[in-house]
Amino acid sequence: DNLKFYIFPSKPTVTLQPSWTQIYSGETVTVRCEIQGGEGAQWTYEWKPAKLNTPPTSNEYRITVTESDSGGYSCRGRRDYFFTEWSDIITLTVSFSNRPVVTLYPNWSEIYRGETITVRCEIHGGDTEWDYEWETNSRIKAPNQNEYRIRSASSSNSGNYRCKGRMKSSQHKTTEWSDSVTLTVSDNKPRPVLTVSPSWLSPGASVTLNCEVEHPSAGWSFYWYKAVPDLSEKSSSYELLPDGSGTAQDSYIIHGQTHTAGYVCRAGRGDPEYHTDHSQPKFVWSADVHSATSLTVSPDRVQHFTSDSVSLTCEGNFTEWRVRKFSEDGRLYSDCRRMTGSTCNINTSKSDTAVYWCESGSGEFSSAVNITVQNDGNGPILVSPVHPVTEGASVSLSCSLRTQKILSNVFFYHNDKLIQNDPRGELKISAVSKSDEGFYKCQYSGRESAQSWMSVKVSLIIILLLLLYRCRRTNSEKFSFTYYKLFIIQRHKCIMMFI
Ligand SMILES: *[C@@H]1O[C@H](CO)[C@@H](O)[C@H](O)[C@H]1NC(C)=O
Ligand SMILES: *[C@@H]1O[C@H](CO)[C@@H](O)[C@H](O)[C@H]1NC(C)=O
Ligand SMILES: *[C@@H]1O[C@H](CO)[C@@H](O)[C@H](O)[C@H]1NC(C)=O
Ligand SMILES: *[C@@H]1O[C@H](CO)[C@@H](O)[C@H](O)[C@H]1NC(C)=O
Repeated sequence: DNLKFYIFPSKPTVTLQPSWTQIYSGETVTVRCEIQGGEGAQWTYEWKPAKLNTPPTSNEYRITVTESDSGGYSCRGRRDYFFTEWSDIITLTVSFSNRPVVTLYPNWSEIYRGETITVRCEIHGGDTEWDYEWETNSRIKAPNQNEYRIRSASSSNSGNYRCKGRMKSSQHKTTEWSDSVTLTVSDNKPRPVLTVSPSWLSPGASVTLNCEVEHPSAGWSFYWYKAVPDLSEKSSSYELLPDGSGTAQDSYIIHGQTHTAGYVCRAGRGDPEYHTDHSQPKFVWSADVHSATSLTVSPDRVQHFTSDSVSLTCEGNFTEWRVRKFSEDGRLYSDCRRMTGSTCNINTSKSDTAVYWCESGSGEFSSAVNITVQNDGNGPILVSPVHPVTEGASVSLSCSLRTQKILSNVFFYHNDKLIQNDPRGELKISAVSKSDEGFYKCQYSGRESAQSWMSVKVSLIIILLLLLYRCRRTNSEKFSFTYYKLFIIQRHKCIMMFI
C-alpha cells in the first residue's frame, strides 16, 4: 500500500501572531501554517482563502489587514504529489479601525454658558489598557483622561476636540487620531419666544401657547407661567400654570379662558438642570366690556389723528392702575407718561398704534381695545366703535378729516369690498349681525383711511347656548368643569344685565 506511506499522518495548524482573532483594520498580522513533526521536510503550502495561493506560496504571510481579510483561514501541506489534511479553520475578524470616537454627553454640540457637558474619548474594546491624549484649539485644555467633564461651560471651552489612545503596556503603540468634534459654547443666555394663538378671545375657544427655543430638538422641556401684574415692581411676576412644569411638548393649551391674560414660558434641560431666561410676556385679549374691569377710550373711536389728545380710562373697583400698550412691532410698554387717577392722557403719534388694556394693583386685567393713529396727515379717519357691537344693535360708521366731519361722497369698504357710496357720508347698520364683523375703511376724494376691525358680539343667550352645547359635546371632565364654571359666571352676568 504505497499510497498510505505518502500521506502524512498529522493535520497542520494555522496560528495567528498576535494571537487575537479580533484585530483592527490597519494592524499587521502573521498567519502561519505549522505541520507538527514535519520540520525539515520540503513542503509547499496551499491556503484557504485561495487569494493567498499566488506563487511562491509560503508557510507564513504578513498581512496588513483590511475588513476584506476577515474570514476563515486554513492550510495544508504538499510534498511531491501528496497532501496533508486541511487544518482546522481559524477565523479572523477585522473590525473598523480602532480610531477612537469623541462623543458629547449629552450630545448637544451647541450649549450655553453654565451648562454641564462631558467630552469623552471612546476606544473600541475598553478603556483600561489605554492612556489618552487630547488635542484642542479651545482656550481651556482638556486633561489627558478619557473623560473631560465640564461642569460650568464657558466660551473658553469652545473648540474642536480630537483624541488618541496610547497603549499603557507599549507606549509607542497608539491609535490614530479620532475625527474632531466641535463644541460651541454660547455666552448668551437663550430666551425662548412665546406665541399665543388666537390673540383675541372668542367665547369657548381654547388658547394655544407655543414656546420656541433655538436648537429645538436638543433635550428641552418647557415651563409655562401666567403673568401676574405687579405694579410696584413695574413688571410682572410669574405663576406656574397647572401641570405647566417641565412638559416635553413645546405647546400648552388653555381651556375656558375668558379674560385678558399674559403668559410666559421658559425651557430647561440637562442634569443639573439649566434654565433659559423667561420669554417676553405675550397676551390674549378679551374685548368683553362686561368683565370686572374695562378700558374706555375718549373720543370713543378706534382711529385718531396724530397729535390728538386721547384719554384712556380704567374702570372697575380698584384704586391703583397701570395702562399697558402692546405695539404693532410686538413691544410691551407700561409707561403712561401722564396718568391722572385711573386715566392716561396721550398726545398721539404714529407709534401709539397698539392694543391697550389696564392692569389693577391687585392683579386684574381689563378688557382690551385697538387704537390706530392715522399715518397720512391730510387723509380721513374712519370713525368706528372701540368696543364690540352687540348683535341686533344699530351702529353708524363715518369718515372724518382733521378739520371736519365729512358729510358727503364717502366710499365705505367692508373687507376691501365697496359696500356703499352714501351721499350723506354715513354708513348706518340698523340691526348688526355677525356677518357685519370685519375690517372697514372709508375713502374720500381719492384718500383712504386706515382699516379697522369692527367686532360683533353675539348676545349672552347665544353664548350660553354655545357653551352648553360645547359642554355637553365634551367628554373630558376638565372641559366640562371649566365650561360649567363659565356657564355659572355668564348666567350670573346675564341675570345682572336683565335686572
Ligand atoms: C443624541 O442622542 C439621542 C439619543 O441618545 C439620539 O436619538 C440623537 O439622534 C442624538 N443626536 C445627535 C445630534 O447626535
Ligand atoms: C383688534 O383688531 C384685531 C385685528 O387686527 C381684531 O381681531 C380684534 O378683534 C380687534 N379687537 C377689538 C376689541 O375690536
Ligand atoms: C402734541 O405733540 C405735538 C408734537 O410733539 C405737539 O406739537 C403738540 O403741541 C402736542 N399737543 C398737546 C396738546 O400736547
Ligand atoms: C369695591 O371694593 C371694596 C373693597 O374690596 C368693597 O368693599 C366694595 O363693596 C366694592 N364696591 C363695589 C361697588 O363692588
